[in-house]
Amino acid sequence: MATKLNTSSFLGIEGNIVSVEVDIERGLPSFNIVGLAGTSVKESKERVKASIINSGFEFPVRKIVVNLAPADMKKAGSLFDLPIALGILICTGQMNFDDCDDFIILGELSLSGNLNKVRGVLPITLEGIKNNIKNFIVPAENAEECSSIKGINCYAFENLKQIVHFIKYRNSLPYKHKKIQSKTSRPSLDFSDVFGQESCKRALEVAAAGNHNVLMVGPPGSGKTMLAKRVPTILPNLSYENSLEVTKIYSVTGNLNTGEGLINKPPFRNPHHTSTTAALIGGGNNLMPGEISLAHNGVLFLDEVLEFKKNVLEVLRQPLEEKKIILNRAAGRVSFPCNFMTIMATNPCPCGNFASGKPCTCTDYERKRYISKLSSPLMDRIDLFTFVNSLNFKDIQNYKKGESSKSIKKRVEASRKIQKKRFKSQGIQYNSEMNSTLIKKYCKLNKRSTEILGKIYSKYKLTTRAYGKILKVSRTIADLDHSEYIEEPHLTEALCYRKFINDDFI
Ligand SMILES: Nc1ncnc2c1ncn2[C@@H]1O[C@H](COP(=O)(O)OP(=O)(O)OP(=O)(O)O)[C@@H](O)[C@H]1O
Ligand SMILES: [Mg+2]
Ligand SMILES: [Zn+2]
Repeated sequence: MATKLNTSSFLGIEGNIVSVEVDIERGLPSFNIVGLAGTSVKESKERVKASIINSGFEFPVRKIVVNLAPADMKKAGSLFDLPIALGILICTGQMNFDDCDDFIILGELSLSGNLNKVRGVLPITLEGIKNNIKNFIVPAENAEECSSIKGINCYAFENLKQIVHFIKYRNSLPYKHKKIQSKTSRPSLDFSDVFGQESCKRALEVAAAGNHNVLMVGPPGSGKTMLAKRVPTILPNLSYENSLEVTKIYSVTGNLNTGEGLINKPPFRNPHHTSTTAALIGGGNNLMPGEISLAHNGVLFLDEVLEFKKNVLEVLRQPLEEKKIILNRAAGRVSFPCNFMTIMATNPCPCGNFASGKPCTCTDYERKRYISKLSSPLMDRIDLFTFVNSLNFKDIQNYKKGESSKSIKKRVEASRKIQKKRFKSQGIQYNSEMNSTLIKKYCKLNKRSTEILGKIYSKYKLTTRAYGKILKVSRTIADLDHSEYIEEPHLTEALCYRKFINDDFI
């Protein structure tokens, strides 16, 4: 007798329904799993056998064949344990499960029969809904994640025995989503902790409002890292759609904390400068998302950016422009979203003191060589440059508590609302994503502003991309000011964010 149960695997951040067919026949005792099962799936044989026996059921001494269909799709992971075990129990007549077609079943079994947390439950739940299956049997530790999607019944259990009992007697109610605050939210950092640095705080506010990329240059200990870590505190919470996208990525990478539902705060990722290309953009045997996708809808902070290997920085060029990364590997082809705001921080020169008031011991050549590690195409992708000065004793002594993150956040939220309305039918969210047609449409300058920009364009031989960036940043500054048109002060403020490093326009 053969039996069939529904489960699902995932590739990238998308779920794929898989049916688990179990057939048990007379013959020499054996246990085989077919259907492009990876090593992790094949290992499930030992777990399934031990957990069936240790849960007090009988394991058949016969020929067992498990087929995972569709057979042309690679399968990996441990979530097939539970449907395989249940299939064996049904086939051997130890339980009945007449309405099994209405359920998606997944979970990893331990040798003692307990259910362990698995990855990818959110994309799997969404795939179930797409296929009109609304009942899910999942490990208790995945309950919050699965039940965060409305309109489904999530049945969560601790072990195999409880599940068999539930299928027989239907004595459990679906798990109720608790709507707990996402634990990915950070401890109470606030912009008011940072003394002075008003121009840099303003640049970060503009960058946060329009989702622009920003480079902070400053001597050691001036507060660059401190400022960057406070940017998430001025970003609005994620919309439901954005929250789903982010949680899917955290779900498949196993970065979702136990008991955590949808992530509603923008993520903040701070990869170390020794990170490899694969760690940054993703890949590997299982095609996992990298840091740039974990930063999707949030912030990617590249501290000490010049310490990163040059080739690692160069791979960022394409995703920074396209807001997605396509990985083509032996394991398949996947696309991960990566629409984030980049904050980069660096010292201005090898000794760190250039333009900070303290004597710089570097030569012009050393300084230029240092900065040139950020190639010009990468520099071109930075919208705002800001200098973080060291504070003198008087500044620190006389400093009164600055503006709180809460109050800055209100302005950022208001300007993002304006952008949302503006781009409702354009398929983008932020000013930083405007293409040349949209720049022409939404970034009109008056006569005086056109003259100013024209002069600067020819004097400093700006690239067309830099020209577009100035207009996009001007648009964001005008939005923060609730101004329909880009006025002269908006443009001049935007121009201030282009000047730095060796006093050149870049
Ligand atoms: N503007 C500031 N207001 C309050 N504290 C500050 C400020 N700047 C620096 N500090 C203090 O100095 C410490 C070091 O600052 P931070 O790590 O942000 O400097 P940095 O510019 O990133 O230096 P580096 O270039 O060495 O990485 C902070 O943890 C903080 O305690
Ligand atoms: Mg630092
Ligand atoms: Zn120096």
